[in-house]
Amino acid sequence: MPYQPQEIAVYIHWPFCKSKCPYCDFYKELARNTDQDTIIAEYLDALKRYHEILPERTVKSVFFGGGTPSLIKPQNIAKIIDEIARLWHIRTNPEISLEANPNTHYQTMFADLKTAGINRLSLGVQALNEADLRFLGRTHTTETARQCLEEITTVFDNHSADLIYARPHQTLPAWQKELTEICSYGLKHISLYQLTVEENTVFARKNIRPLEEDAAVEMYEFTRDFLTERNYNLYEVSNFAQTGFESVHNLTYWQGGDYIGIGKSAHGRFYENNTHYAAEYPFIHTPLTAYERAEELLIMGLRLTQGINKDVFCQICGLDLTEFINKQKLNNLRTAGFLTETPTHLFATRRGFLVLNQLILELCS
Ligand SMILES: C[S@@+](CC[C@H](N)C(=O)[O-])C[C@H]1O[C@@H](n2cnc3c(N)ncnc32)[C@H](O)[C@@H]1O
Ligand code: SF4
Repeated sequence: MPYQPQEIAVYIHWPFCKSKCPYCDFYKELARNTDQDTIIAEYLDALKRYHEILPERTVKSVFFGGGTPSLIKPQNIAKIIDEIARLWHIRTNPEISLEANPNTHYQTMFADLKTAGINRLSLGVQALNEADLRFLGRTHTTETARQCLEEITTVFDNHSADLIYARPHQTLPAWQKELTEICSYGLKHISLYQLTVEENTVFARKNIRPLEEDAAVEMYEFTRDFLTERNYNLYEVSNFAQTGFESVHNLTYWQGGDYIGIGKSAHGRFYENNTHYAAEYPFIHTPLTAYERAEELLIMGLRLTQGINKDVFCQICGLDLTEFINKQKLNNLRTAGFLTETPTHLFATRRGFLVLNQLILELCS
């Protein structure tokens, strides 16, 4: 059967933040005199234009990411969600997520966001001790983070929190304390990112060094076991979920589904008129060859513990996975214990996960 994706995920990027964190290399601007209503009007127009290109799709998820989308007025969030629902058919129980920064918290914020249509709240906690929050340049306190965690687990049925670890000088017992606390809120999903010092960030200019590699590997392994014992399964390199609460939206990226992105620095991928497109906002659509798409599917799919479904890979890009990958390299990596192949899937082993970037580079070179 010809490949004809039906569903689509919608990403809304809000690139404004109250302050800039010194480790962050995402595109962002300071939210000083942001003319929010004008930007929202532009986003509503962009949605209409995307609907003209992809009219027959069913929306499975909407993700308000950032930047700091919790700075968007709830009535503007509602406008976006309503417009998406007016334009497209929406899946039963769609996932509609928003990333909130505790530094934007006000008393009725989460209730207002829920009323606007958000049904999954992801909170940027980053650290659960004051000294490390300050080190990370965060402008919220642990007290606000804790209050937000209490509130999101009361207001929403689906919730997540982000923490950054492998901070310089962080010890395993100190990290265990934070993990114990974050697990105590009954969140459905937890994202744990190892600190990376990216070029052109304040951290890079200050020559900040993350934890040494051996210590970071030990922390990663410890974290994986600690969360698994508490019923949070690692399903992607940095993402843990209770069963059935994996992020529908983010799985779209990792499994090669179609998505559109609205907002400065947002991007998309979609298949239309027998062509794969890489989309950059606003409306630059570059055709991708089957080979280019296959490479992306490999890079993204190996991030999942479940790995790459060979049938889905072939349906999407039209190439056979085991023919696309260099057989000799595949055999070497399998023999060395980094990759496992079953009749249906190819995935990185636990050992492979520790060197995933090198593994992917090797397969793609
Ligand atoms: C684009 S940010 C948006 C979240 C929101 N603006 C906030 O900061 O609360 C998504 C997540 O990426 C993670 N992140 C960003 N930069 C990182 C870095 N250099 N190293 C590790 N994690 C990082 C943080 O955990 C952050 O919550
Ligand atoms: S981490 Fe979040 S709040 Fe901080 S600068 Fe990046 S996007 Fe903005």
